[in-house]
Amino acid sequence: MFNRLTRCFALTFSLALMGCGAYQTPVMQVATEPPVIEAAEDAASEEQPTMPPTATPLPPTATPTPEPTLTPTPPPTATPAPTATPVLSPIDRLVAMRDAEKGAALFVTFQETAGSGYSCSNCHLADSEKTNLGPGLLNIKDRALTRVEGQTAAEYIYESIVDPMAYLVEDFDPELMPRNWSEIYSDLEIFDIVAYLLTLEGESDIDDPEPAASDAEAASDREQG
Ligand code: HEC
Repeated sequence: MFNRLTRCFALTFSLALMGCGAYQTPVMQVATEPPVIEAAEDAASEEQPTMPPTATPLPPTATPTPEPTLTPTPPPTATPAPTATPVLSPIDRLVAMRDAEKGAALFVTFQETAGSGYSCSNCHLADSEKTNLGPGLLNIKDRALTRVEGQTAAEYIYESIVDPMAYLVEDFDPELMPRNWSEIYSDLEIFDIVAYLLTLEGESDIDDPEPAASDAEAASDREQG
């Protein structure tokens, strides 16, 4: 009974719509539009930042700015100067941290593998500038600065020990000082020795540094005879 009424109502309603010529369009709009709007709304709600679309087109216009690359050029010419001023080299800093007392002990330690068997003290006096086969090492800290241009005292003394041939003190036998100290002592031990040698300060006991030549000859004569 009710079914027949509704069907009858539906039929008359649709006939009336067809009569108006609006039957097809309302159905299409009702069926298609809602999902489109929902999808658009979902997409909009998922993308949290609503600004990006408006922000992206701006960068392309902002990027072309090549001028800044021209301004940084003048400063570089001013920077090289500070690199010449550093007072402490890596070796200076390492030596400053070492133990001069330990170095003093190593200085007098006999090493049978050093040349034909020596201690530093066999050839170097610590309390005098006078020659004893090798140059006296009193005040070596000051003399070291006069040896190789650009080297600090610690750098020169360190090099004198590990590579005696790098700089030869005039009028001394270049073959005399053993060249294998870096095999006998570790770098840290050699830094201890350098730290010790830097402490050797006192009143000079030679009038003229030059007579070292005759002293050296006399010393090697003594050694041979
Ligand atoms: C067999 C002798 C001999 C022994 C051992 C020896 N030296 Fe020398 N050393 C010399 C002679 C000779 C010179 C000078 C010639 C030269 O520059 O190599 C010299 C140069 C040096 C100089 C440079 C001195 C200067 O006035 O510029 C230093 C520093 C030095 N020795 C430290 C040492 C130390 C530290 C040891 C031990 C680890 C040592 N030497 C062991 C003979 C010796």
